[in-house]
Amino acid sequence: MEQELLRLKQEAEETLAQVAGSDQLEAFRVKYLGRKGGLLTGVLRQLGKVPAEERPRLGQLANDVKQGIEALFEEKKDLFAARSATGMEGFDYSLPGRYLPFGKLHPVTQVMEEICSIFEGLGFAVAEGPDVETDYYNFEALNIPKHHPARDMHDTFYVTESILLRTHTSPMQARIMERQDPPLRYIAPGKVYRCDSDITHTPMFHQVEGFLVDRQVSFADLKGVLTSFTHKMFERELALRFRPSFFPFTEPSAEVDIACVICGGGGCRVCKRTGWLEILGSGLIDPEVLKMVGYDPDIYSGFAFGLGVERIAMLKYGIDDIRLYYENDLRFLSQF
Ligand code: DAH
Repeated sequence: MEQELLRLKQEAEETLAQVAGSDQLEAFRVKYLGRKGGLLTGVLRQLGKVPAEERPRLGQLANDVKQGIEALFEEKKDLFAARSATGMEGFDYSLPGRYLPFGKLHPVTQVMEEICSIFEGLGFAVAEGPDVETDYYNFEALNIPKHHPARDMHDTFYVTESILLRTHTSPMQARIMERQDPPLRYIAPGKVYRCDSDITHTPMFHQVEGFLVDRQVSFADLKGVLTSFTHKMFERELALRFRPSFFPFTEPSAEVDIACVICGGGGCRVCKRTGWLEILGSGLIDPEVLKMVGYDPDIYSGFAFGLGVERIAMLKYGIDDIRLYYENDLRFLSQF
């Protein structure tokens, strides 16, 4: 019996040392210390059969063994209780760390910031204006009087008869010129709104307006600035094409195309076989617009341009449906 007790003592101590969680600890308790069928309890029961003269010594030994194991068991139990209070029970410290997903800027915001920083590098200051605009700044001050046919193109959301959601960022030209004298060099990024929706139009989109006013500003200055911008934006020396156009607030006006970013000008599906992609509207600021803010068009001249941010981002990243930007599908967004 003495042998048996010492062997059990050793076995129980070794087993306990391996116990790694409270489930295992409970199994240990049942196996060695359980009232029914516990191994130590079983040995103690046999004391009755031991010869009377051996009983006191063996009884003492059996009690010592049992108390020793109980003490170790309690110690382990306290340790697990302390760990589970910190929520770290069963934690495997050797596991590699998990990366937390972190947010990124929306691709449209990224491109917008890139556009702004390119123009800032060219000496333009950034100004932002209101999304809810007056009819005066959105149209009148840009030489688009009431009933002018150009208003039809804007698909305007009206708030009241004279208040609307701006349909372009051009009103910032008038707002800034009204308050400052030339020379001026500004860009105005922001949201614009039009009642229109298909694979190339969303009811809200982003534009960056740019303009420069000084003495003797010519079309050559406009070409220089836009060429330098597109080369930086598309990281290639793409050819530019200035196509005569019409805007009420510029004269002359031009729409600007770049050589197709996909085929390089050879003609493909994206550029509809023309080899060119339209990227912005521009022109020399109409003398009427300068007069309305109190500038003398005989002294000052300027150029202006307006570009669609989503469009530039689509061309830059080869995206063919503008609505992807606004569906908030993380599989799409996380690629940027
Ligand atoms: N505001 C025009 C639009 O949204 C774009 C534009 C064209 C802006 C020519 C300009 C410009 O400043 O000169 O369609």
